[in-house]
Parts: sequence; C-alpha cells; structure tokens
Amino acid sequence: MKLSRIVLTGVAGIMSLSLAACGGGANSDGGGSKTVFKLAFNQTEKHPQYLAGVALGEKLEEATDGRYSVRVYPNEQLGNQADVMQNVSNGTVDMAWTAAGIMEGYNPDFIVFNLPYVFDSIEAQTAVMDGSEALDELFTSLEDSKSLTVLAGVSAGVRNIYNSKGPIRTPQDLRGLKLRVQQSESQVTMIEAMGAIASPMSQGDVYSAIQTGVLDGAENNESVYDGLKHSEVAKYYSYTKHLIIPDYLLMNSDTLYGMSDEDRQALLDLIPEVRKIANDGLVDYCAESIEHAKSIGAAFNDDVDTAAFKALVQPMVQSAIADSPLRQTLYASIESANEATA
Ligand code: GCU
Repeated sequence: MKLSRIVLTGVAGIMSLSLAACGGGANSDGGGSKTVFKLAFNQTEKHPQYLAGVALGEKLEEATDGRYSVRVYPNEQLGNQADVMQNVSNGTVDMAWTAAGIMEGYNPDFIVFNLPYVFDSIEAQTAVMDGSEALDELFTSLEDSKSLTVLAGVSAGVRNIYNSKGPIRTPQDLRGLKLRVQQSESQVTMIEAMGAIASPMSQGDVYSAIQTGVLDGAENNESVYDGLKHSEVAKYYSYTKHLIIPDYLLMNSDTLYGMSDEDRQALLDLIPEVRKIANDGLVDYCAESIEHAKSIGAAFNDDVDTAAFKALVQPMVQSAIADSPLRQTLYASIESANEATA
C-alpha cells in the first residue's frame, strides 16, 4: 500500500512520520540557521503565482522564526517546466509552480483534471482543489517513486485558442492550424480532436515560434496570452473555453519531510493562503491582460460554437477515466462540484 506521509489538503494534521532530509537545492546562510527554498516559476514577476510564492517565503520565515524562507526565480531562470520537474524530483530545486499537463507523464491519474470541458467553472475546480481523500492520494502518489509532493492545486484560468490567422468559431476554422499545447498526451489528443494540429512545446519557446510562423498559435488563459506577449504576434483570441486546468505547487518530498514536524506543519498551514493569493490574483490579472491586449490591437471573439468542440472531445474524456478507480473517484468529485456550484 502506498505510504501517504501526510494529509495535504484535509483539515487533519500531519502523521508523525518524518524521513531523513537531503536538503536538496536549498541555500543555507552558512551558519546553517536559515534555509531558503528555491521556487522555480516560468512566468513574470507580475503573475499572481509569483506573488503567492513571495508571500509564502515571507510568511514561512515569520512562522519558523527565520529558519526557512523561499526565493522565487521567475521567467524560466531555472529552466523550462519539464526540466524543472526533474530537478525538483532530484532535489536540486526545492519547489516549482508547474502546469498540470506535465504531471501526466509522471502519473497518468493526473489526467482527470486535464480533460476538456469537464469543469463547468473555476469555482467548481477550486472546490475540488480544496481537498478530499482522493486528492491527497493523488498529490502524494509520487512521493515514494519520484520524491515529488504536490502541495497545492490552483486555478490557471479558462483556456481558449489564439492564433495569427483569424477568429475561431467552429471546428472547421481550426483545420490546418498548428497550435502549441502543453507537453502531454492528453493535450495533443484534445487539440487534434478539436480539429487542429498539435505541437507540444515548453512555454518559453512559444513567442518566437509564432513570430517566425513555425506555429499559428496556441491555447491558454488571457494572462499567459498577454503576459508573455503572444498578443503581439497572434491577434485573434477566441473563447473556445475548452479547458479549466489547474497549476500545481510542487515540492521535493525529501526536503519537505526533512523539516521538523513543527516547521513542516507551519509550511502546510500556509498553503490555503497561498492558494487564495494565486486564485484571486489570477482573476484580476486576466482582466488587466484583456485590456492591455486590446490596447495593442488584439481581437477577442466570444462567438464560438463550444457545443461542437465539446462533442468532439467526449470520446477522449470517457476513455481517459475508464479502468481506473482513482480517476473515477476524482471525476465523480468534479461532477459533484459542478452540481454544488451551479
Ligand atoms: C498555465 C500555467 C503556466 C504554463 C502554461 C502552459 O497557464 O499558468 O505556468 O506555462 O499553462 O504551459 O501552457
């Protein structure tokens, strides 16, 4: 049976199990009294996940009497998300914000939250990410094999398609368009079912790929569209609303369990606040991003046949959850959250 070392998302406290630490990529101040966790982030300092990471550092320092803090490295300074995941796993980076697609390569059960048109709203997604036993099982599933703990799932907005050619209204409009997707099988299957050609790639390569015509566009929320300047090179943003997919805050498990019970609990107690900063901040950041993108000539199109796109991806949703009790439980939690927040 899997050793689930802590209860991450529930109200219950930690189990008193702590493993030997290797300390990983964290910096100590030389006297050994202060450890600064490195948190990798692939977007800018304006993004609420950056701000949430900074707040985590400040509050952790306060809560642990200066024993621990966090330094956030934005703009892919520590590498792209796929490479960073490996470095969190091997302990040379302590923490990272990461896109959900990449998690599937480590444990296919993560696919459930990456499926198109399954969440009816960000509220439903947030309710599921608030916690459950099944979520704890998923979030601790990579501790023993990869030394990866998911500390939190946050909103990454609603994803829509943008491109340099024209507005998208129907699946027909996607024919022949080459679009960047996250590096995961589900995202490739999804975009191809919707009618386009999928090109999995890390986020930092997207701008120049669109600029040079290697790609026609991509799909993402408005903050990535404008924050990473894709709005300069792909003027048409269409509300396909195909995905409400989370981002995750990851931590190296050995580093987490190497903390004293008290310090680890202080860190875990801060997670709800971190989620709130990231979630609330994204709503405002997306609104600002829309305004800025419009001011430089981007066109937002809401006239989209979302029912047609949804019909095309239904087979992939059904087959993704078949044959896995955990995925079915997680999927059921999405359905209940959809109903509860309707
Ligand atoms: C999300 C996320 C990013 C990530 C991106 C993607 O929106 O916030 O960190 O880069 O998706 O890779 O598509």
